[in-house]
Amino acid sequence: MSDVEPAYAVGQTVEVTTVDVAQGGWCVARPDGLPVLFVRHALPGERVLARVTEVTSRFARADAIEVRDASPDRVEPPCPNAHPGGCGGCDWQHASLPAQRALKAAVIAQQLHRLAGLDRTVTVEPLAEEENGLGWRTRMQFAVSDSGLAGLRGHRSHEVIDVGTCLIAHPAITELAITEGEWPGTSSVEAVAVPETGESAVIVTPKGKKGAGGDSHRRSDISGADAVLTRSGRGGLTAVRGHGYLSQRALGRQWRVSAGGFWQVHPGAADALTEAVLTALAPAAGDTALDLYCGAGLFAGALAPLVGPGGTVAGVEYDAAAVRDARHNLREWPWARVHRGDVGEIIKRGGLPAARLVVADPPRAGLDRQVVEYLCRDGAGAERFAYVSCDPATLARDIGLLRARGWELADLRAFDAFPMTHHVECVATLVRG
Ligand SMILES: C[S@@+](CC[C@H](N)C(=O)[O-])C[C@H]1O[C@@H](n2cnc3c(N)ncnc32)[C@H](O)[C@@H]1O
Repeated sequence: MSDVEPAYAVGQTVEVTTVDVAQGGWCVARPDGLPVLFVRHALPGERVLARVTEVTSRFARADAIEVRDASPDRVEPPCPNAHPGGCGGCDWQHASLPAQRALKAAVIAQQLHRLAGLDRTVTVEPLAEEENGLGWRTRMQFAVSDSGLAGLRGHRSHEVIDVGTCLIAHPAITELAITEGEWPGTSSVEAVAVPETGESAVIVTPKGKKGAGGDSHRRSDISGADAVLTRSGRGGLTAVRGHGYLSQRALGRQWRVSAGGFWQVHPGAADALTEAVLTALAPAAGDTALDLYCGAGLFAGALAPLVGPGGTVAGVEYDAAAVRDARHNLREWPWARVHRGDVGEIIKRGGLPAARLVVADPPRAGLDRQVVEYLCRDGAGAERFAYVSCDPATLARDIGLLRARGWELADLRAFDAFPMTHHVECVATLVRG
């Protein structure tokens, strides 16, 4: 046990100037002689009164509760729930949209510098031409309180906040009126909508280990959704009404995607990321390509017609429903196949063909080490790699690992696929030097 007094106490207020932005929607303050303070609801360069919310041995977290000297980038948050102690869903409601993108660009550049040894100017591109950063989110997960209220969680908290209408939710989600009802016996409610086709689905997760308890999926006030599904204790989905998948649109065609499966939540993201991936890989007829972590097969389906029958495309995905969707979506190109299983395991047992072009779109944790081994292996033949990432830190870590083994970062694009939040999507182009 240390008898050193902690530098801060939860609830204490301290006046600080924030000097920088940090990954996760925080600003950094370094008060004289005190440990670093990560401040939410602030912007870099502001003088704020911050209330400490959490203390660790190395740093503390705080909320800016009063702005004494405001940044020119500060705006009135459009959402009334975006304040200290309010909804934890958005991080940058109090910044103008260009400033939000500049903050995300700064975080990406910071991570590349720290973890990949690269100094790069990054630009974050908007996905919509006329934007206000609202009404874009086509999938929302609502938490349900003990009293049956559906809302959103507070920041780093289990508290369910009654948000009423979430302003970043797409109007097609708001129409489902999930937050207006009561959800007894329910642990969460997920809503998915496809604005282009008007389809929607609601996934209800009942409380209780085996998915027992609660019959909220029978409620008449979710009759607005085309499909209602329940999630069992093991995560499997059962359609109570309608079928279990939606027809998403991208690249001018429809893609079957299971209601619980992955699809970009911003309506402009699938097209923008695919265009960036194709530019990164520059596929030609006869090419061999891999789509790792392929989901419903979006990138494989963009590559397949371009490599043609003289080429091959192999997708890898471990979720059974996503594999079924990908096989369905790729059925018109017999030279595109989908391997079902863990990417790392499949590579370890030599289950993947050599490929000149590789795209990978892993979850936040980044690339499995086996993917790095595969890309760096002599004889695997990989020459161009498009790395799609939703986490600048693991992206930068993996770019660092690849750079150390002969790959070079040729290009990096970033897209504002999650306005108002700290999240961002990147597409890095790596080429083998
Ligand atoms: C970010 S999504 C990308 C999907 C697709 N590229 C898209 O844009 O629609 C990641 C996908 O990887 C899958 N996945 C995650 N970890 C995996 C692993 N270790 N092996 C195989 N698939 C994995 C998830 O099920 C999910 O479908």
